[in-house]
Amino acid sequence: MKRDYSVKFLIMMFMMFEVGAGKLHRVGDKQGWNPNVNYSEWCSHEQFYVGDWLLFNFDKHYFNVLEVNKTSYETCNDQNFIHNITRGGRDVFELTEARPYYFLSGGGYCFHGMKVVVNVEIPQAPAPAPAKNDSPSIAGSYIVLLIVISMPVACVVLLF
Ligand SMILES: *[C@@H]1O[C@H](CO)[C@@H](O)[C@H](O)[C@H]1NC(C)=O
Ligand SMILES: *[C@@H]1O[C@H](CO)[C@@H](O)[C@H](O)[C@H]1NC(C)=O
Ligand SMILES: *[C@@H]1O[C@H](CO)[C@@H](O)[C@H](O)[C@H]1NC(C)=O
Repeated sequence: MKRDYSVKFLIMMFMMFEVGAGKLHRVGDKQGWNPNVNYSEWCSHEQFYVGDWLLFNFDKHYFNVLEVNKTSYETCNDQNFIHNITRGGRDVFELTEARPYYFLSGGGYCFHGMKVVVNVEIPQAPAPAPAKNDSPSIAGSYIVLLIVISMPVACVVLLF
């Protein structure tokens, strides 16, 4: 069991690096994907960005993970789902778009709290330098200038 877990973990790490290391969110943290967990509470501590991943940990004999639309989420309707994410019970899902994603478990477990909505945002660009205080950008230009100036020098040094 333990070995199986670590192999999957390595594969997951590999996948994460391959896509540019989006954050992996363990749905429900230690509680996993189970009935009677408050997933609104869990979501309120998380920030989701495009390129992040969700990890659902659950017993596949009882539960599943379906992506549904808003209406189905609200009414716990497990028919006409958009995606069936269920595989082995340690299943990952990539959040590729900036939009709300709705998930639930079929088999009536949605009515016992197994539903979650994840609001995905576009990653924040680094905060631009305030317009009033333009010294950082001047400093930046100087650094670029220094690099431009020093590059031929470095080449000359290398040539000799
Ligand atoms: C779940 O948590 C949210 C946010 O903390 C809270 O507003 C809500 O009442 C909770 N729901 C249940 C069923 O406990
Ligand atoms: C969700 O899907 C159901 C079934 O396909 C459909 O009747 C409903 O209009 C959809 N709701 C939204 C908000 O797309
Ligand atoms: C979802 O996919 C799993 C694994 O392929 C399958 O066992 C299960 O029956 C599917 N569930 C639904 C509701 O289609």
